[in-house]
Amino acid sequence: MKTNVLIKLLAGREIRSGTALAAELGVSRTAVWKQVKRAIEQGHQIETVRGKGYRLVGTIDFLDRADILTSLPRNVRRRVSLQVLDSVDSTNAEVSRRFAADEATVLVSLADAQTAGRGRRGRDWQSPRGENLYLSLGLSLPGGFSALDGFSLVVGVAAVETLSALGVRNLSLKWPNDILHHGHKLGGILIELQGELEGVARIVAGVGLNVHMTDAPGVDQDWTSLGLIEPATSWQRNRVASLLVASIISAFDEFSIHGFPAFRQRWQRWDAFAGKALKTTQGDYQGVGRGIDEVGNYQVETSNGIECVRAGEISFRVMP
Ligand code: BTN
Repeated sequence: MKTNVLIKLLAGREIRSGTALAAELGVSRTAVWKQVKRAIEQGHQIETVRGKGYRLVGTIDFLDRADILTSLPRNVRRRVSLQVLDSVDSTNAEVSRRFAADEATVLVSLADAQTAGRGRRGRDWQSPRGENLYLSLGLSLPGGFSALDGFSLVVGVAAVETLSALGVRNLSLKWPNDILHHGHKLGGILIELQGELEGVARIVAGVGLNVHMTDAPGVDQDWTSLGLIEPATSWQRNRVASLLVASIISAFDEFSIHGFPAFRQRWQRWDAFAGKALKTTQGDYQGVGRGIDEVGNYQVETSNGIECVRAGEISFRVMP
């Protein structure tokens, strides 16, 4: 990642001449210019100041493996195999590939950019370089897929509790696990399963969290980012990532022992649908949100009484 060294040299934000950069990098001025070009193609905002040199204008918030690792509690650090990538198709896909070689540790993959980020329901997840967190964990649980009922909601609880501890207010979870701020999507969770129906379940838990993003032309829903919510805070992806990893692993441990009931009340606290008039996105089904049941299905009060909806079956929105 040659360009990262260049970006670090520009991190002071003053104009640096091509000659000075060339001397520090031990390359020619033409090579510097090529690195600047590559860095711009990768999404870094570098301004060329005529006759003077180059200046970094965008956000500088590097992902750093050592920084993330040292911020993890020691008992968590011992259990994880952490990978930080410059770019990958999808961190969920990467963790699935890593599972083939390693089931014993908790696999964690982060990337600065994703070229084929995956969302729920087959949608794409826009993953611009350097802006957000793209994070996946690989976790193994004996007891087959049935032991996983509700786990996707558990990851949502871990995520909002982490953000709330960081001082973010007005968060909610849109069932099953979209992370919202004042109704705008701040993050999403994609759980994918591997392994046998009855044996050890391998879980890939992917979290996408908008951190610095201020512009997303390809996103077709209301969204926000930590930087937009709390502009005065200097958000550091390494810190948010290590807190999220620790919190998801701790929630996973608790879930492995006590199952979903331990999380039911914790989830309800964040329910974006509670008491609201809902209808399906197709508009063919209406009712009032009444929280989740003991396995994480959503309960809707309709004219026929309480009906339980399984995650993935129907998607709701609040009626205007
Ligand atoms: C959603 O649709 O709300 C879920 C989005 C999940 C996105 C994350 S980003 C990290 C991980 N890798 C992926 O390809 N998807 C998840």
